[in-house]
Amino acid sequence: MSAVVVVGAQWGDEGKGKVIDFLAGEADYIVRYQGGNNAGHTVSFDGGEFVLHLLPSGIFRKGKICVIGNGVVVDPKALVDEIEALRKAGIEVGENLLVSDQAHLIFPYHKVLDRHRERSIGHRKIGTTGRGIGPCYTDKAARMGIRVADLVEDEIFREVLRENIEEKNTLFEKLYHEVPLSFEGVYDEYRGYQEFFARHACSSARLLNQALDEGKSVLFEGAQGTFLDIDHGTYPFVTSSSATSGGACTGTGVAPSRIDKVIGVAKAYTTRVGEGPFPTEFGSELMVKMREAGNEYGATTGRPRRCGWFDAVLVRQAVILNGLSEVVLTKLDVLDRLDEIQICVGYRVNGKVHPEFPASQKILREGSPVYETVKGWKKDTSRLQHLKELPAAARRYIDRLSEILKIRISVVSVGAQRHQTILCD
Ligand code: GDP
Ligand code: IMO
Ligand code: MG
Repeated sequence: MSAVVVVGAQWGDEGKGKVIDFLAGEADYIVRYQGGNNAGHTVSFDGGEFVLHLLPSGIFRKGKICVIGNGVVVDPKALVDEIEALRKAGIEVGENLLVSDQAHLIFPYHKVLDRHRERSIGHRKIGTTGRGIGPCYTDKAARMGIRVADLVEDEIFREVLRENIEEKNTLFEKLYHEVPLSFEGVYDEYRGYQEFFARHACSSARLLNQALDEGKSVLFEGAQGTFLDIDHGTYPFVTSSSATSGGACTGTGVAPSRIDKVIGVAKAYTTRVGEGPFPTEFGSELMVKMREAGNEYGATTGRPRRCGWFDAVLVRQAVILNGLSEVVLTKLDVLDRLDEIQICVGYRVNGKVHPEFPASQKILREGSPVYETVKGWKKDTSRLQHLKELPAAARRYIDRLSEILKIRISVVSVGAQRHQTILCD
């Protein structure tokens, strides 16, 4: 392994944290490249469970360097709190953590703006995590953002923060009827983070390219999923970053020519948190059953996740968009008790079947899924260690998915714990 990208192939929460933690044993560097603390990546081992929001999921492996790349938006308080919680649990976070000096920072006004934008668009609200992600990326694109490098240079920081507070206070007063923020209040809080960032800052581009030159291996950890990607997702119901594999390059400064492999993580069914189209969403009875079976509650906001059948139209598109080399199929065990399982292979609108993922919001909203039905296996798979031990029907499900998606399924996950992982080769 040298440069491997891991991406979510659906709408997030595919089990990327588990997969990264599993692969991190063989890596030297583990790097988050986009998103922020809207992510919630669960890592379970030795019977324990941790949820990470900003720290890369390699943080539990000794002797590894964890990096937060330039494409990530960092809420300093969330990061410091996350580190503190891990330290209390006896996990070392010190020189093994580096943060790109070009990463943009989330400020209190971003969270206020996130809340107001959701409210003002009413029925078209996205159902964001409320962490200020969208407004922070908006400022980045508007050339108003404040980066780690700007925070640690006090003179620059005072200047850009003042400009931002003035601009946001005008919006607060004139448009949102919010209490204006005090420059001194925000400045004093963030000045308190200068030392932390000065200690952990790096150039992710220099660091990672040098590591690759030295033959080290780098694991790029995607957050969210392909269909939450700002360009390729179910726009406008997306997040504000490049969650697809290309984001690993722009979000770290490692060029596409250096990437060796892209692994897609897909759940054996589908989930989505927040608003937006979801063609294979279950009706209420199956929804409740599967949500409980899969413990489908958001790792960041605790919101119940919407659940549905595996959508092969969606995941096939993810194979293409990310240039996937292979797929890790997670949460197969959650399907253990079903009599029959459906796979969506197209969307039907006015009698016409669309076999490919459309940009049209109308097709995504109104299309009825065309299903292929496979038999369930009705056996507990959570204790199995080898592919050949899986019930024949479970193997048929995996093979059929692989056939429709035109890609190899290299690993099957049958439980949250590190050891509940079946290698297919
Ligand atoms: P991520 O955002 O992609 O890292 O995924 P999350 O951590 O938000 O959600 C995945 C959830 O499923 C977590 O609670 C994991 O502990 C859990 N999980 C991961 N893989 C498996 C699996 O194979 N089976 C079961 N039952 N749970 C899993
Ligand atoms: P991980 O990395 C699932 C969703 C939100 C909302 C939309 C925009 O754990 O897979 P945002 O706060 O980003 O502006 O919200 O994106 N969303 C996620 N859904 N998993 C995530 O991350 C998500 N991060 C954001 O629910 O619909
Ligand atoms: Mg998650």
